[in-house]
Amino acid sequence: MMNQFTIPLHKPFWGKEEEKAAILAMRSGIGIGGLSYSDLLTEALSDKLSVRYVLPTASGTAALELACACLLRRGHEVILPSFTFSSCANAIMLSGAKPIFCDIDINTYNIDPTETEKHITSKTRAIMVIHYAGLACDMEKMTAMAKKHNLLIIEDAAHALGSKFKGQFLGTIGDIGCFSFHGTKNAASGEGGVFVTNNKEVYKLAEIIREKGTDRSSFMRGERKKYSWVKVGRSLVLSDILSAIALEQVKKLEKITHLRKRNAKYLLKKLERLSSKIILPKEIEYCDTCWHIFAIRVPKLSRDKVIEGLRSYGIEASFHYLPLHTSVMGKKLGYKARDLPVTEEVATTLIRLPMYPQLKKSELDYMVASLEKIL
Ligand SMILES: Cc1ncc(COP(=O)(O)O)c(C=O)c1O
Repeated sequence: MMNQFTIPLHKPFWGKEEEKAAILAMRSGIGIGGLSYSDLLTEALSDKLSVRYVLPTASGTAALELACACLLRRGHEVILPSFTFSSCANAIMLSGAKPIFCDIDINTYNIDPTETEKHITSKTRAIMVIHYAGLACDMEKMTAMAKKHNLLIIEDAAHALGSKFKGQFLGTIGDIGCFSFHGTKNAASGEGGVFVTNNKEVYKLAEIIREKGTDRSSFMRGERKKYSWVKVGRSLVLSDILSAIALEQVKKLEKITHLRKRNAKYLLKKLERLSSKIILPKEIEYCDTCWHIFAIRVPKLSRDKVIEGLRSYGIEASFHYLPLHTSVMGKKLGYKARDLPVTEEVATTLIRLPMYPQLKKSELDYMVASLEKIL
């Protein structure tokens, strides 16, 4: 389906390099995971993020499922924000554990550390933090809390490839980090993801679960003569063709982040004059953000009307995250409206504006002028 918008919400930053890489990967093998492009992607990410172990996965969802399969079991509880994607709660539930939805901070839209602590029980095994839009959670507070209560941290950094918290890459601070290469993400291979950890035991376990519960990865490295089924696993490996595309994107990551930052800063400056009517995204001193999402809020106006207005000007603005606790599944888990007031306030007033590297100054000006007319 063609996008009917002049300014779409996302646009992958793909060029000749990605096309060439996909063709070379097709010509050099049969496209399965674990071949040379997967190895090159693993190496590139390990270097870039300064993280010891990297496993490319079929999606960001697959990385989350792998993380939860490694760390969780029935009887465990995991605290996570309700303001996130279904994949987070699915991954927890597929491992047998229970998701406990927590409210977010009104400024960052990330899990609120004070609220998180209130949900900790003797069953809590982990906290799943989501760095919304690429803006870091306060990882100092979260890691201190995890240490105090002996909990693990899974970082959902699907939005946050390239973002840093006090100089350290997001996704590498907790016990496991999960990234996405979905077509909408800053670095995109269509579908794809990556699981990272500095823990050797977790890595060894994840490598087996990712490969259908077999020791095939070790066989592929020539460490054993045969491979066999060693535990219950899943099929979560990223194809070598998509690894080749993701590799080119990782090589361009600095450029992608630079252009997104430039566009976001320009929008922030231009939208300042509308600040009596809209709430602009916050910049936090401890975070160097990759600007995956540019989200404004319009608490004094009808959000849906503003989105409709922008769309009528050819701008693909969108709402973001119907909270998980108020979803059909959230209700089945016993949650109800008004359980998490900040989440509901943010989710009903937020508008995502188009954000991608190729946006021209004239398009950004057009977005600002259209918004001004609508307001
Ligand atoms: C916070 C978050 N986590 C995980 C995912 C899932 O990533 P993927 O689409 O690569 O499975 C998404 C999807 O956009 C997301 O927004």
